[in-house]
Amino acid sequence: MTSVAVLGTGLMGAPMARNIVKSGMPVRVWNRTKDKAQPLAADGAVVADSPAEAVEGADVIVTMLSDGNAVHAAMSAAAPGLRSGQVWAQMSTVGVEAAGRLAALAAEHGLTFVDAPVQGTRQPAEQGKLVVLAAGPAAARQVLEPVFGAVGMRTLWLGEDGAEGTASKLKLAAVSYAISLTAVVAESLALAKGLGLDPDLVRQVIGGGPLDNAYFQGKSKAILEGDFTPSFTVSNAEKDTRLITRAGESAGVKLDVVAAAGERFRRAEAQGHGEEDIAATYFASFDKG
Ligand SMILES: NC(=O)c1ccc[n+]([C@@H]2O[C@H](COP(=O)([O-])OP(=O)(O)OC[C@H]3O[C@@H](n4cnc5c(N)ncnc54)[C@H](OP(=O)(O)O)[C@@H]3O)[C@@H](O)[C@H]2O)c1
Repeated sequence: MTSVAVLGTGLMGAPMARNIVKSGMPVRVWNRTKDKAQPLAADGAVVADSPAEAVEGADVIVTMLSDGNAVHAAMSAAAPGLRSGQVWAQMSTVGVEAAGRLAALAAEHGLTFVDAPVQGTRQPAEQGKLVVLAAGPAAARQVLEPVFGAVGMRTLWLGEDGAEGTASKLKLAAVSYAISLTAVVAESLALAKGLGLDPDLVRQVIGGGPLDNAYFQGKSKAILEGDFTPSFTVSNAEKDTRLITRAGESAGVKLDVVAAAGERFRRAEAQGHGEEDIAATYFASFDKG
């Protein structure tokens, strides 16, 4: 039975860990703020006091933390518990440069590094329906199969070298779509409101037509109902806009929309909406937020 350590039990890491436990694998979890990991004990996970305690003896280590620096810090702290040959599935969105840096850290400890970010937000994470984008050695695939099967509905394998950040590149391309779409939906509703209209009229115009989709419905519903319970936080999305912009610059690709979305997220953060759902980018259209 594959034993798994999950470092990071935030919006995504907690349901992912829960689904791995449900699949019958022994799981140890660690989170910087221990209170957030504690509920997983009721599901059958062992809540560790440190990253080193969590990873000790695990066949697979999953990291699901906010960014590359957080992952690097947690895995460095895990060092006393690491042993050569463990498989590390790095599933946070860290961007291309950090994927390379983390692969180098893995090599220092003899770990098999798999660059494995996910597509899908909190609800698919709860349902075990994420899409895993993975690049890493073929030998790791068999070990990871039950873990990726527990958290996702499919895995897209993208090559054997996790250090190249191929999966992280695809993740940035995919998340740029979600981020840009959210900003556009929010602006459209904000414009209607600013023009003195009921923003729900926008939903009535778009709904059922060729521009309608589940994402438009979800984000416009959140804005209209004022329910910004996070699925994907403004702060994490802002971080992603910087990773996407940097990746575009290094590839010589001009990315205007995502840069504008980044400005909106920074304004929303300054207004105090950083920990809310990205639909709260709506407030960035108004001076008073
Ligand atoms: N939410 C989504 O829709 C979604 C979808 C796909 C990918 N992602 C990516 O998945 C990752 C996790 O996302 P999430 O939504 O679960 O984020 P989240 O709820 O904000 O959780 C972030 C996690 O990172 C930890 N953390 C932050 N800084 C840290 C540090 N310096 N040292 C140790 N731990 C640190 C937090 O610990 P504390 O609890 O102590 O703060 C928490 O466990 C991010 O890279 C995100 O971009 C998110």
